[in-house]
Amino acid sequence: MSGAQLAEQAWEPARPGAGPLRVAVVGLGWAGRSIWIPRLDEHPRFTVAAAVDPDAGARASVAAARSTGGGRDDPSGPRLLADPGLLTARDVDLAVVAVPNHLHSRVAARLLTAGVPVFLEKPVCLNAVEADELAQAERAGGAVLLAGSAARCRADVRALYDLARACGTIRHVDLSWVRARGVPDAGGWFTDSRRAGGGALLDLGWHLLDTAAPLLGTASFDEVVGTVSADFVRAGTGAATWRRAGDLDPDPGPHPDPDPHPDTDSGADLASAVRRVDVEDTARGFLITQNGVSVSLRASWASHEAWDSTVIRVEGSAGTATLACTFGFSPNRRGGPVLTYTRDGDTVRVPVPPEAVGTEYRRQLDEIPGLLADPDSPGRAVAEARRAVDAVERFYGSAHSRTALPAGPGPRSRRT
Ligand SMILES: NC(=O)c1ccc[n+]([C@@H]2O[C@H](COP(=O)([O-])OP(=O)(O)OC[C@H]3O[C@@H](n4cnc5c(N)ncnc54)[C@H](O)[C@@H]3O)[C@@H](O)[C@H]2O)c1
Repeated sequence: MSGAQLAEQAWEPARPGAGPLRVAVVGLGWAGRSIWIPRLDEHPRFTVAAAVDPDAGARASVAAARSTGGGRDDPSGPRLLADPGLLTARDVDLAVVAVPNHLHSRVAARLLTAGVPVFLEKPVCLNAVEADELAQAERAGGAVLLAGSAARCRADVRALYDLARACGTIRHVDLSWVRARGVPDAGGWFTDSRRAGGGALLDLGWHLLDTAAPLLGTASFDEVVGTVSADFVRAGTGAATWRRAGDLDPDPGPHPDPDPHPDTDSGADLASAVRRVDVEDTARGFLITQNGVSVSLRASWASHEAWDSTVIRVEGSAGTATLACTFGFSPNRRGGPVLTYTRDGDTVRVPVPPEAVGTEYRRQLDEIPGLLADPDSPGRAVAEARRAVDAVERFYGSAHSRTALPAGPGPRSRRT
């Protein structure tokens, strides 16, 4: 089919109520295998129709898990494919794309252009050029792009959104996710700017910005300043223990410069690549929206703290709402979420329904069939991603203009 023919395709919403949606999971690493497949398997509205990864070992792990009873319904299990280009809109209703960051827009854009709706993991894109590429692909294929942090679906975050209504006019939002030791490994791409696009800011900061979006509205940021530091990744300390732990090489030395844009980034490729560690483990910044609301943002993969914690504080004309909890899957957490409301010197605790770690991912799945059928969905994920990536690019621009952190090409110059 030619590009011109594709451009004329009308957007066709998924058929709600027409049986389980057939999902392809693209990228069978930690997120694909630990977050997505088990929850899709459990969910009555979805069936895993295909599992895609160029890494034969990753595909074999999925096959092995299903042969020991991990799958549901279809005894033959999902189709195991090496190339997402083999997926068509006839075979699947949705592709969940969980590949390394620098491949997000390329893999998702190809699927969208082929008419396959996509849920794209965060960070949705690494720069404005990639956002354009996704928008163009969504239009050309007539297939919708979905994205968004599952953190928005946490019960405590939803309770915070409700409580924020009692804060009056929002003046300031504090966003902070600080891990004690939580540098992701995944064979090294997370700490390689060419493949990750950035460090803790893109990884944890993206979740924070996404979570704050319902509080801040659609205003973009007028001002963005930030600093970054890399004390922990440079020292080779602070690796996450709940993922595949691995030693980081703080001084990879001269490295061959392979094609920075290969179409795949398989585990085997990563294992043979020379480790490069040139992203921040900590980002601290201050942003101001067009409407004059200020945001302080702190994202740390590692710190001197004992526990991992996430804090969101909403300061308004009528009161302050504060949520202290721990986002993500880290077991290094203390206690459950605490939500408070402060006004005139009085702080009251607001009850938050208890929920198991990771419940938000199941809840996010609950929303996907409705989003696929919603005529307002096309364009929304790209618009939100544009605001986030614009903030990230300017944050890095500010930080790299005044720190000695060795920067790779970084998101600003990527794919331009
Ligand atoms: N939402 C969350 O809470 C969350 C948590 C963890 C990771 N993530 C995101 O998920 C993505 C993957 O992270 P991860 O930790 O699973 O990384 P990972 O390295 O463990 O897995 C990535 C997988 O993608 C595969 N891959 C590479 N190129 C591919 C291609 N063209 N087609 C199909 N597969 C390909 C690799 O072989 C690998 O198996 C990242 O973007 C990350 O930011 C999100």
